[in-house]
Parts: sequence; C-alpha cells; structure tokens
Amino acid sequence: MPVIAWVWHAAVAGFSALSLSVGCALLLTAAEVGAVDADAALLPAAPGVELVQRHCVACHSLALVASQRGDRDFWIHLIRWMQAEHNLWQLPPPEESALLDYLSTELGASAGARRLALPPHLMPPDT
Ligand code: HEC
Repeated sequence: MPVIAWVWHAAVAGFSALSLSVGCALLLTAAEVGAVDADAALLPAAPGVELVQRHCVACHSLALVASQRGDRDFWIHLIRWMQAEHNLWQLPPPEESALLDYLSTELGASAGARRLALPPHLMPPDT
C-alpha cells in the first residue's frame, strides 16, 4: 500500500510539475510574442526591418532601438560598442550592411529627433 501511495504521489507530483512547466512555457511564449508584436509597431516598415527584429531584440526592447536617431557612423559605433562590451555577436557583413542601411535611413539623424546629450562642460554645476 505505501508503495502504491508513493507511486500515486510521484505520478501526481510529476504531472503537476509537467503542467506547471508547460503552463509557464505558454505564459512566457505569450508574453514574448506580445512584447515583440507591440514593439514591432515602433519600427517603420521598410526593407531591413526583419534584420532588426532578428538581431536586436535578444537583450533589450525594440523601444530602446526605435527611440534613437543617428547617422551610419552613430549606428556602427553603437554596434561595435555592444559587440565589445555586451556580447553582441558578429553580424554577417551583408546583413550588417543592410541593417545599417535600415537604421541610418529609417532612424537617421534628422531635425525632429531628440538632441544629443550635452557635453560635460555645458552641464550645470552640481549643487
Ligand atoms: C547581446 C546583447 C545585445 C544585442 C543582441 C543588442 N544589444 Fe543593443 N544594447 C545592449 C546593452 C547591454 C545595452 C545597454 C542597455 C542599457 O543601457 O539599458 C544596449 C543599448 C542599446 C541602445 C541604447 C544606447 C544608448 O545610448 O542608450 C541602442 C539604440 C541599441 N542597443 C541598439 C541595438 C541594435 C540596433 C541592435 C541590433 C543590431 C542591438 N542593440 C542588439 C546589448 C545588446
């Protein structure tokens, strides 16, 4: 009898652990899909947007990408910085080039964009 009870408990525990992890996986998937969908709308639809969605969502939100503006140089430096400091992988050269075309065109430096940060010597003194 104790053996049967143990088997039963093990079976129930196993089953609920399984359903818990399946439940978590579903929740996670739904949350991730929701986040990507909501953020994807922040990026202008143009050739190359799929490269941003492929390479630029693993570590932070697309909102962080979409809120920046800069020319090609700005984006290259940012990519090199993430590669040097934050484990961004090497991008295959044709993809990197298409990605930079997209970023510098759709999220390029423009008059309406947020201004650059003030250089330290123009900042007000600490009080
Ligand atoms: C391997 C991780 C990783 C990937 C992939 C990644 N980044 Fe980042 N990125 C970071 C980290 C870490 C930061 C700093 C986050 C913070 O300050 O909160 C950052 C910051 C940024 C910023 C904000 C810079 C600032 O001055 O505030 C932008 C814009 C950005 N990334 C764009 C991109 C683009 C475009 C791609 C795709 C080519 C990309 N990221 C892919 C790790 C990554």
